[in-house]
Amino acid sequence: MQDVKINTVIREEQVRLLKGLISHLDAGTNVDAKGILENPADTYTSEERFAEEKDNFFKDYPQIIGMTGDLPEPGSFMTIEDFGVPILATRDETGSFKAFANVCAHRAVIVENEKKGLKSKFSCPFHGWTYNNKGELIGFPKPDHFGHIDKSCYGLKELPCKEEYGFLWVHPNPKGAIELNQLFGLKLMKEFDSWGFENLVLGEEVEYVTDMNWKLAIDTFGESYHFSTLHKDSLFESFHGNVQMFDIFERNSRITLCKRDIDTMKKEPEENWHICRGAFPVYFLFPNIILNVSEFGIILVREYPLEDSPHKSVSKVSFYYRPEVLKEIEKLNISMADAGSEGFGSIIRDEDYVVAAASHKGMKSGIVDAITFGRNEPALHHYHNTWREALGYQRLPLI
Ligand SMILES: [Fe+2]
Repeated sequence: MQDVKINTVIREEQVRLLKGLISHLDAGTNVDAKGILENPADTYTSEERFAEEKDNFFKDYPQIIGMTGDLPEPGSFMTIEDFGVPILATRDETGSFKAFANVCAHRAVIVENEKKGLKSKFSCPFHGWTYNNKGELIGFPKPDHFGHIDKSCYGLKELPCKEEYGFLWVHPNPKGAIELNQLFGLKLMKEFDSWGFENLVLGEEVEYVTDMNWKLAIDTFGESYHFSTLHKDSLFESFHGNVQMFDIFERNSRITLCKRDIDTMKKEPEENWHICRGAFPVYFLFPNIILNVSEFGIILVREYPLEDSPHKSVSKVSFYYRPEVLKEIEKLNISMADAGSEGFGSIIRDEDYVVAAASHKGMKSGIVDAITFGRNEPALHHYHNTWREALGYQRLPLI
């Protein structure tokens, strides 16, 4: 843990967060949003809201498609179809990250069908039109029969993309812009920079399909009020429930959950403290990303609607490890699933998403007009008010 990259500013922030948690524990208090919110059920169940959020947040908003560790070397590629435009992302021979619409310039067929791998040429299965990992059309069969075309005009459509702080961003709109400063603000970008996410290695990826609106999956990460009931035999053993810190960064936020290890850590000198020892930071990166950080690495959760429906969604959960942690896992002969999805993954799948799907069923029945977010659940206040403002709706009033 000593070699986690930490700069001075972030060190101060770590101590502030840990002291805040300790003082809540000592006083028996929690973060306070100063009021209660009622979030209309149609946020989750209405087809109209769903059409609006799809247009605004998935088809025309910068998307985090993964981390640097997803494209570990020159020649790596990945494909995704999570938000409308099929994407082919590559790392070219110079190490540059590039993103294209995975759509053939000839007959619009999906060019590459593998999810991930090492390949620097991509051939369309229909007629064999072939592109390099810079998106250039490098050949097609029987040009003398097909007719003359200017190959430079028939490349894959390039999409705006950016790789920074270990994240891979793609904008699904070819004319879109990815302005990190505007999206996250300097403070959060500095914090991203301090973590060293660019060094993480992909361990395992899993997907959980659930009958619920995609935002209910996000809501399950937003508070620790439920730890002592829903997670009483799992997370509650290593986390204090109903204690957290909360901070806002533009449309994004961070909750800092409280590990029980803080009880021994607080008795030690401050220089021994570390945020990942006493706490568990969770970033909400608007609109659909939950980033969980621990001493081992990160768990990136991407939430997407499925089947063009507000009632079904998929959680794509990727486990990335610090290289030395990965070596330790290999040495101990632990499977990637035991290290990742069978631990944390199974808790969200078998506990959180089960109640979230039940909540969706309850709202879909039409029996309630709204669900309620408490004073101790400020991340849910912020997320849903941000969602509303971004779609042109009024903020929800505090009750
Ligand atoms: Fe939970």
